[in-house]
Amino acid sequence: MASFLIDNIASLVTNDPSLGDGPLGVLRDAAVVLDGERIAWVGPAGDAPPADARHDAAGRAVIPGFVDSHAHLVFAGDRTDEFAARMAGQAYAAGGIRTTVAATRAATDEALAANLERLVAEAARQGTTLIECKSGYGLTVDDEARALRLAGQVTDEVTYLGAHVVAPEYADDPAGYVDLVTGPMLDACAPHARWVDVFCERGAFDGDQARAVLTAGMARGLVPRVHANQLGPGPGVQLAVELGAASADHCTHLTDADIDALAGSATVATLLPGAEFSTRAAYPDARRLLDAGATVALSTDCNPGSSFTTSVPFCIAVAVREMGMTPDEAVWSATAGGAAALRRTDVGRITPGARADLVELDAPSHVHLAYRPGVPLVRTVWRQGALVGT
Ligand code: NIG
Ligand code: FE
Repeated sequence: MASFLIDNIASLVTNDPSLGDGPLGVLRDAAVVLDGERIAWVGPAGDAPPADARHDAAGRAVIPGFVDSHAHLVFAGDRTDEFAARMAGQAYAAGGIRTTVAATRAATDEALAANLERLVAEAARQGTTLIECKSGYGLTVDDEARALRLAGQVTDEVTYLGAHVVAPEYADDPAGYVDLVTGPMLDACAPHARWVDVFCERGAFDGDQARAVLTAGMARGLVPRVHANQLGPGPGVQLAVELGAASADHCTHLTDADIDALAGSATVATLLPGAEFSTRAAYPDARRLLDAGATVALSTDCNPGSSFTTSVPFCIAVAVREMGMTPDEAVWSATAGGAAALRRTDVGRITPGARADLVELDAPSHVHLAYRPGVPLVRTVWRQGALVGT
């Protein structure tokens, strides 16, 4: 297998404190050697072992590829008009999801796959080397299973979200829809997914319904994660912690008890500032979570309704400006934090043995991701050791 040296790195974020300074394990004047799909060596430039090929980072920064642990990429159509109406003063409502459900059901497999691949490629160009992908715009047995099959073609991190909202056919029978989601739909979907998710929110599923969805999924070997406390306070975060969910996502409206529960648990608080940006809502308070000791991940929530961005650098800049995060914390949350939310130890870090997922920035430091908002700083991306389009 060919080895590859990345040399002359001004600042290397390893996310391994034993390799460098601070929680990000920053190494100055560093080099990295890749061996096929893995990282083989990390250390001072000049000490690197010989390699078959070399890339000169010429004084730039290198960071781990972003791990986007929350995205909804299997859909058709867009909701430009809804966004424009919101920006003219209309409130966001979860009901808009049904617009995308209708378009998604009407789309061919080929059209859905093409849109999905376009978005994954768009994310990769902005430094995302692993992305989670949910169903949730089909809401029938066949359409949910189809979404998961398509998602599985682009990522290992596939999430069953049949409980996104109650399907329109069941508008008068939400209990019947929960029976479908926990019965025949789960039967069809469980083989294609790693995770089970539920939108636990007023207008979607209440605490009891969410518990039924998650425990049914767990009984089939799926690991829970929860859309929790996005639009208002509610039981989602506590339920996520109680069930040992990998993550509670959104976490915009938290009580002190919610913060304590997250801080005292292994459940990662995944913050999704693209959603607050695009719904013109108040941002979650990352500082409060971090100060309490919670693990925080930062992801895009890419979807056509509430957050139509694939850009993790955008989320980092917003999180630093609006959510009380330092640039170091935001970069950690978008890499190692995302990995923690997906319970992965092979990504989100640049250490020997890890997956060779790296991003070279057109900047001397990772801090520039927040310091230079909106500037396309992602210069080179390697995913599993292979160069992806820039
Ligand atoms: O995570 N909150 C629920 N689901 C998405 C919104 C989906 C939509 O509006 O289409 C979210 O923000
Ligand atoms: Fe979401």
